[in-house]
Formats: sequence, C-alpha cells, structure tokens
Amino acid sequence: MTAQIINGNELSQQIRAEVKSRAAALTEKGSQPGLAVILVGDNPASQVYVRNKVKACEDCGFYSILEKYDADLSEEALLSHIDRLNQDPKIHGILVQLPLPAHINANKVIEAIAAEKDVDGFHISNAGALMTGQPLFRPCTPYGVMKMLESIQYPVRGANAVVVGASNIVGKPQAMLLLQAGATVTICNSKTRDLGAHTRNADILVVATGKRNLVTADMVKPGAVVIDVGMNRDDEGKLCGDVDYAAIKEVAGYITPVPGGVGPMTITMLLVNTIEAAERN
Ligand code: GUN
Repeated sequence: MTAQIINGNELSQQIRAEVKSRAAALTEKGSQPGLAVILVGDNPASQVYVRNKVKACEDCGFYSILEKYDADLSEEALLSHIDRLNQDPKIHGILVQLPLPAHINANKVIEAIAAEKDVDGFHISNAGALMTGQPLFRPCTPYGVMKMLESIQYPVRGANAVVVGASNIVGKPQAMLLLQAGATVTICNSKTRDLGAHTRNADILVVATGKRNLVTADMVKPGAVVIDVGMNRDDEGKLCGDVDYAAIKEVAGYITPVPGGVGPMTITMLLVNTIEAAERN
C-alpha cells in the first residue's frame, strides 16, 4: 500500500483564504485583527518560526507586531511588556515564543497573558478548560492535527489513537482533543517500555518527540494514519520529521510529510485563533 499524503500546505491555503475574508470584514468594521509576537533571545529555529508567523498574519491582512528582546531581558521586564499588550486594544492575540531563556519562568509568563488573548491556548485557564469544557483557544499544533483528520473525514470516534510525546504544547493537548472526539487514547513518553507494542495498535498515530526516525515501518499498523509533528534535520541538513517517512508511506494509509505537513497547519490555526479572538472582541 502507498499512503495518501495529507498536504498541510493545501489545507492551510483553504483555511487561510477564509480567515483572510473574515479579517477583511472585521477591518471594514474598524477592528482589524491584531497579533503581537514576542521573541526573547536568538534561538535560530524560533527566529524562523516567528518570522513565518508574522508573515502569515500580514498575508491575511492582520495587524501584527514582532517584539524582539535580548536573551538577558529580565522576567520583570517581560511581564511588563505583556501587561502593556494586555491593555492594547489593537492587539487581540499575544504569543510568547517558547522556549524562553532559563532565567525566565515560562509558566509565570504564560499566566500573565490575558486568557482572552492567549491564542496559543497555553494559559492555565485554557489548558484547564480544554480538559473540562470549552476552552477559549485550543493549542495550535494539536488543533491543526484535528483539522487534518477532519479533512480526510477520518472516523476518529472509536479509533485507537496513540500520541508519542507528552509535552504541554503538543502531546497532552493532542490527547485531550482526540479523547473529546471519541478516540481511545494512549499517551507514550520517553520512559515508555516497548513503544512499538503501543504504536502497532494505533489507527491514528501522532508523533511529537523531536527524535528523528524514532518510529520505523515495523511499528506502524498497515493502513494507519501517521501524523508527524517532528521538525529535525537529517545528516545532509534537510528538514525531516520523527518517523521514517520513506518506509512508512509504504505501510500507512495516510501520512503527513515534513516539511509541508503539520508545520503550516500550526501557523494556520494561530490565525484562526487570532481571528476568533478579534471577532469575540
Ligand atoms: N515553540 C514551539 N511551538 C510553539 C508554539 O506553538 N507556540 C509558542 N509560543 N512557542 C512554541
């Protein structure tokens, strides 16, 4: 079997076209959607991510600002920048790119963002509401993965879903979204014994570990949907994910490529969250 590719660029284009027209309608009413992105330090990957986020905002007709600070910015100063953006009526969404330098308490920073502007969905009130009810915002990457499953009309209800990776940004919220959609969910982490015994049971396999080639073809159930959230470099410096794409595409039913899979969807869902924040306002 050769897997069908779930193209994150194509799906993003469709969703972004709709976001763009909603943004135009809001702007016409005098309320252009606005996103503020904060980057502290000079992590090269983070620099690329924030540049892509700001560019996507501009392409959709949003107002967007990028605030860059040196790695030695104090926590107190960062909190006061967030407070200023919380009060700014032109800003509907605030995103602080992670990771932050070690001297800054990331949890404290995330909790300082007004929950109604927390377009990353990381604030404790949004994370809690994801578990118990309707959050204001769903974290962008797992939300994008759910949209990819929707795009292939995959019957998530009753499916066995296995999430490899248990981060606050992807793994844990991904598991909650799949559970809410009716899947039977297993979350694996770096201590999991015999990872393959779990992954081979997956109808839906979401891998978000940052470890190249962690999942090989023998660990995939024939016909499964394999969603690769990884973003790594191979020996030649080319972008690659967490799964052995070339071999797994001969086993899986569907697969997401890297690049061009989940990556663009993360940014797209940030735009969706920001437009929703602006519309609520
Ligand atoms: N670092 C890696 N992924 C993300 C994300 O989705 N949002 C933020 N703010 N930082 C990240």
